[in-house]
Amino acid sequence: MRIDIITIFPELFKPFLQFGIIKKACEKNAVDIQTFDLRNYATDKHQMVDDYPYGGGPGMVLKPEPIWRALDELPHPRRVVFLTPQGQTFDQEKAWELSQEKNLALICGRYEGIDERVREKLVDEEISIGDYVLNGGEVPAMVIMEAVIRLLPDVLGDEDSVVGDSFYQGLLDHPHYTRPEEFKGQRVPQVLLSGDHKKIANWRKKERLRQTLLKRPDLLKKANLDSE
Ligand code: ADE
Repeated sequence: MRIDIITIFPELFKPFLQFGIIKKACEKNAVDIQTFDLRNYATDKHQMVDDYPYGGGPGMVLKPEPIWRALDELPHPRRVVFLTPQGQTFDQEKAWELSQEKNLALICGRYEGIDERVREKLVDEEISIGDYVLNGGEVPAMVIMEAVIRLLPDVLGDEDSVVGDSFYQGLLDHPHYTRPEEFKGQRVPQVLLSGDHKKIANWRKKERLRQTLLKRPDLLKKANLDSE
C-alpha cells in the first residue's frame, strides 16, 4: 500500500515513521509512505499556501493551487481523504476499508480549512477522528495511518495479531494478566493458570462480552455475534 500525505508540516511525520510497527512495516515494504510539503507546490515567490477568506471573517484558508498541484503528482487509482472535524467519524470498520486501498492520499487541513473548490473536485471523502477540534489534520493522519497499517498483511506477527483486538467482531478486548501470579493481594483468575485452552478461550469470549456490556453497551447492537 502507498500512503501520501499532503501537509505544511512534513517534519512532524519523521519521528512517527521511525519507530515500532510503522518503521517495521516500511522496512518490509508493506507500506510506502511519502510526505509532500505543500509549500513546495506554492505558485508565488513567497511560497504562500494560505490566504484570507472571501467574505471576511477570522482565520486563513489553504489556497487551492498548491493542493491541486501536489495531488497532480500522486498515482491513480487512489482514494483522496481530507482530514476535517466535518468528516465522518473514523472507526475500526473504516480502518479495514482503507487498508484495502492501493493508494491513499491524506490531505491535512490547517487554519479554517481548504478552498471549497479543491474539496469538491478532488476529495473523495472527509474523515474526522472525533468530535473535537485540533489545530490541523497531521495528528488525525497519524491516527488513521497507525490504525490502517497494523491491518496490512504481514505487518503484525501472530503474537499480536489483530484477531484479539478491541473492536474485532465489534467487541472490546478481554482483560490481560502477566506475572506475578499474585500482586498486592490480587490473584490472576484461576482459569488462566489451568492450561485448559478451551476453557480459557471460553472465559475470554465471555469477558469480551461482559466488558462490552459494561463499558460500551452501544457496541453490542451491531456486534458480529455467533449463535453461542
Ligand atoms: N482537523 C482538526 N480537527 C480534526 C479532527 N477532529 N479530525 C480530523 N481532522 C481534524
